[in-house]
Amino acid sequence: MNRTDILNDPTIGNKAEAYEAFDDIPTNPNLSRTIGEVVAARYSRRDMFKGALAVTTTTALFGTSAMVAPKGAAAATTSRYNFSELAWGNDEKHHVAEGYDADILLRWGDPITADAPEFDVMNQTAQAQLTQFGYNNDYVGFTALNDEGTRGLLCVNHEYTNEEVMFPKLGRQDRDGFKGMTPELIDIEMAAHGGTVVEIEKETTGQWRVDRNGKYNRRITPLNTAMTIDGPAAGHPRMQTNEDPEGLTVIGTLNNCAGGMTPWGTYLMAEENFHGYFWSDVTNADGKVDLSAQPEARQMKRYGVPGRWYNWGTRHDRFNIDKEPNESNRFGWIVEVDPRDPDAMPVKHTALGRFRHEGAETTLAADGRLVIYSGDDNRFDYQYKYVSGGVVTEDKAANSKLLSDGTLYVARFDDDGTIAWLPLIHGEGPLTAENGFNDQGDVMIDTRIAADLLGATPMDRPEDAQPRGDGSVYLMLTNNSKRKPDQIDAANPRPESAFGHIIEVKEDGGDHGATRGTWSILVQCGDPAVAEVGAVWNPETSENGWFGAPDNAAIDAEGRLWISTDQGRNWGKTGKSDGLYALETEGEARGTSKLFFRCPVGGEMCGPYFTDDQETLFLAVQHPGTDGTRDLAGFERDSTFEDPATRWPDFDPAMPPRPSVVVVTKQGGGKIAV
Ligand code: FEO
Ligand code: CA
Ligand code: CA
Repeated sequence: MNRTDILNDPTIGNKAEAYEAFDDIPTNPNLSRTIGEVVAARYSRRDMFKGALAVTTTTALFGTSAMVAPKGAAAATTSRYNFSELAWGNDEKHHVAEGYDADILLRWGDPITADAPEFDVMNQTAQAQLTQFGYNNDYVGFTALNDEGTRGLLCVNHEYTNEEVMFPKLGRQDRDGFKGMTPELIDIEMAAHGGTVVEIEKETTGQWRVDRNGKYNRRITPLNTAMTIDGPAAGHPRMQTNEDPEGLTVIGTLNNCAGGMTPWGTYLMAEENFHGYFWSDVTNADGKVDLSAQPEARQMKRYGVPGRWYNWGTRHDRFNIDKEPNESNRFGWIVEVDPRDPDAMPVKHTALGRFRHEGAETTLAADGRLVIYSGDDNRFDYQYKYVSGGVVTEDKAANSKLLSDGTLYVARFDDDGTIAWLPLIHGEGPLTAENGFNDQGDVMIDTRIAADLLGATPMDRPEDAQPRGDGSVYLMLTNNSKRKPDQIDAANPRPESAFGHIIEVKEDGGDHGATRGTWSILVQCGDPAVAEVGAVWNPETSENGWFGAPDNAAIDAEGRLWISTDQGRNWGKTGKSDGLYALETEGEARGTSKLFFRCPVGGEMCGPYFTDDQETLFLAVQHPGTDGTRDLAGFERDSTFEDPATRWPDFDPAMPPRPSVVVVTKQGGGKIAV
């Protein structure tokens, strides 16, 4: 399908579903790989629990949960997650395992700053939205402000907006020529994107609450937040625009999907589907964008610019490629925000490459260098990691420079179960002027094209990549309905993969700084009772525990893996809502999964994030009430503002569904699932 087909497809009911379908359009032309041997799931136990030095050093310095090794893992004969599994299903509410509370902490529109007005859904303005919690919360991070961890800053990404359930009497706009999108509505959409930093506090009752008077509280948006550009592409001629002739400053960030927290407490926001926000009026006879006179045509074709999912370019010239061909080069990066300094400009770090960054999870190499894993979420795109030049110290200012100077690698998964990390360095191999790379800035702006030339492995949509301190990293490959039987390889073994899989990488020597490692498939997702699906789980997994479409992941303080799902409009194929699953990686129970939390209908499960004491879990429910509501028994139609499938979480007849952050705690206190 092309863009027009998707917009005209009567089975696609809303923007969230269209997003999913747009991801079906591969932009990678290099798919002629040798057919690999289709391997069964490889449950290798070698190379586990190495890298203890890095773990000890890091935990002593920073204590972040992503850097711990699994505790008691070698002896695990059954799943180590101690909770009673939730029953699967899909309805208008959220559900959590028995013995836990799942309370709403923050909703779209909640006032974030002391001077913010109360939310008035029928009288929205951009000015109000700039001080209120944004839409479609995705990544959630937390950094403590006191030693007890009872006060801290919640950092939340707002990925995108769903106009049909945000605004009264509007409906879907992208396939309707954006006829109803006034300049005011465009600016509200822009103000609802980006991120939020907000102070939260755990009261003596054990409940968390938002402190509207927190001095660090702020919104970050594509409408009004200036950002610095640093790294190899800073000041590059291809980064210069009419508004910014120096190529060093850009207004805003958008489509911030997942992210990460650095060991020194800064917040990383990943810019994912940035292409969808660019516009063009230059079309050929069949209505498709004509790039023949476009100076940036090569990268635009490879990145899918302009996607025209939003019509911001009709109001703001910089999003119109006919007027500003370089602006799209200024998106698709990792943004670093210092949540403890509200006056500091966020920084776009071009050393981490430009692609549809799903996330940016951090860990350390054995020698203390910073390592960041990031997937490029498009069908047939690649898995990357970044390794800093210097090492992490207790000097915060020096640490932030680690994101400016380092090496970006892309992964090649070989059929023998090894992985090679290939460096993207100007002048090395094919990355020369002959191939259009005049300097390292070009290599970073055109990361995808450089990775094509290096022979990276096209993957089944790399979503979150979650490292653990023992040199393991878990890769969420969410699905790829476009992979043909002659395009499978060992690391992407199923054609037309509807449910995705999870790969476990063990870096050589347990060192995240290694340039080689081994990989195995942890699970192949989908219903194990349906042979044609080809799912692979530990047989101990119940009918509640298997899932499809892994998206985000977290490692808890015990070193255990948790997975959240985003099935999009395909949830009808499983009947299950999206949710959070506890997936064992170790011992005899490896590959066992248990359901802990499930979303209301049409919502995607985001977050998850555990506090270091393992007593609090932050989750985010994105776009509740939208995806696949035609499959909800008794509703069976598309949601609108006036008629949504759920009014979660308020269940107020005057309020549409609201994306919200949920905080999970154990009743009576204590560690989660321990
Ligand atoms: Fe925004 Fe790839 O999920
Ligand atoms: Ca995601
Ligand atoms: Ca994660």
